[in-house]
Amino acid sequence: MKVLLVGNGGREHALAWRIAQSPAAPTLYATRPNAGLAKIAKAVDLGVEQIDELVAWAGAEQIDLTVVGPELPLTLGIVDRFQRAGLAVWGPSQAAARLEGSKAFAKDVMTRAGVPTAAYGAFSDVEEAKGWVRSFGKPVVVKADGLAAGKGVILCYTPEEAEAALDSMLTEGAFGDAGARVVVEELLIGEEASYIALCDGVHVLPLASSQDHKRVGEGDTGPNTGGMGAYSPAPVVDAALERQIIDEVMYPILRTMAEMGAPFVGFLYAGIMVTESGPKVLEFNVRMGDPETQPLMMRLKSDLVAVLQDGLAGRLDEVSLEWDPRSALTVVMCSEGYPASARKGDVIEGLEEAATVEGSHVFVAGAQLDNESVVTSGGRVLGVTALGEDLKGAAGRAYEAVSHITWPGAHYRSDIGWRALSR
Ligand code: AMP
Ligand code: GLY
Repeated sequence: MKVLLVGNGGREHALAWRIAQSPAAPTLYATRPNAGLAKIAKAVDLGVEQIDELVAWAGAEQIDLTVVGPELPLTLGIVDRFQRAGLAVWGPSQAAARLEGSKAFAKDVMTRAGVPTAAYGAFSDVEEAKGWVRSFGKPVVVKADGLAAGKGVILCYTPEEAEAALDSMLTEGAFGDAGARVVVEELLIGEEASYIALCDGVHVLPLASSQDHKRVGEGDTGPNTGGMGAYSPAPVVDAALERQIIDEVMYPILRTMAEMGAPFVGFLYAGIMVTESGPKVLEFNVRMGDPETQPLMMRLKSDLVAVLQDGLAGRLDEVSLEWDPRSALTVVMCSEGYPASARKGDVIEGLEEAATVEGSHVFVAGAQLDNESVVTSGGRVLGVTALGEDLKGAAGRAYEAVSHITWPGAHYRSDIGWRALSR
């Protein structure tokens, strides 16, 4: 069996690592593999957006299953194109990927489906948007409608901040076409959780709960990043809340997408704010989270290849997932300057020592093999992950592994898991 991973970050390394352990013993391929993927997958020298070339390559190689990691190729329609060529591919169609590709579309679907979310308006006219903010009279969040690499969300505590955000997106074109339309919504207060499920168009098969750490600084301060660390399970999602998210978010979205002629197949990620008045959806992603995938794959015991095939066959209602009961925690190590910039080309030392820490695994995000060395090549460099009897044990081991790894300017948060640990 041959499996192609589209994408080359930490999420894809973790997915590939789990897929490699399938009893199907697949031969793995990955697009422009990072240093971690390169050890377990053969390289395909194509970018994730080169869809014509990827379809042709996968057809010629007779790839049995393609798993798409990042949102960009999904919103560009990679799944539709593979399907038209008769190739099995896991991920949503272009029409279904609009749940992430357009925040206004996602809000519209949530409204139709009756899914709890922040009050909002969608605007392309700057004066209309400012009028909504004035009449709303409370703090708001201004969001670029389209994909903006996680940067198109501005929290505005005062009307002046909101006006400045609206001017930058709608008048000055700060995010180009992605910000030519904006969603303005109520700023919600609460604790965030990531809720990710496999969907086959009709059925929802939830993954274990997890929590990300989006801010660069300790105690959740400073600018947003792609994610500085994650852990699973997340105690903020108790059994009652999970039931509520499945029944009041996941299934209504699936039913509404099907009614709209865009059934959702793939990983559906709901970013949830647990507020005093219950869970509310902040956003949808149409893919796994990064770095949430890393602790989740560390804990997943089921054969992921078989599960994805069941998903493509529409029988996720017959599947139950097996999880390691232990906790897993990932610490993301970043290059100097991240998230504003990212210094590249530094040699990473200490990976062999880190590998001796029991129950740990280093997932690579932005690092490349250069002869015998592993060299930084991006902002988020490594996802140092460990299992432990409880979250404290997992954190202890992950940080022990981190302590062995160095390169000039490396930084990471030393408080990953703090919300759960302080409960
Ligand atoms: P998004 O890309 O929509 O997930 O937004 C990125 C981050 O901005 C989220 O993870 C939240 O931390 C924050 N955020 C987004 N929407 C809201 C909201 N309505 N209220 C408070 N924080 C938000
Ligand atoms: N960890 C957040 C995301 O993948 O969008």
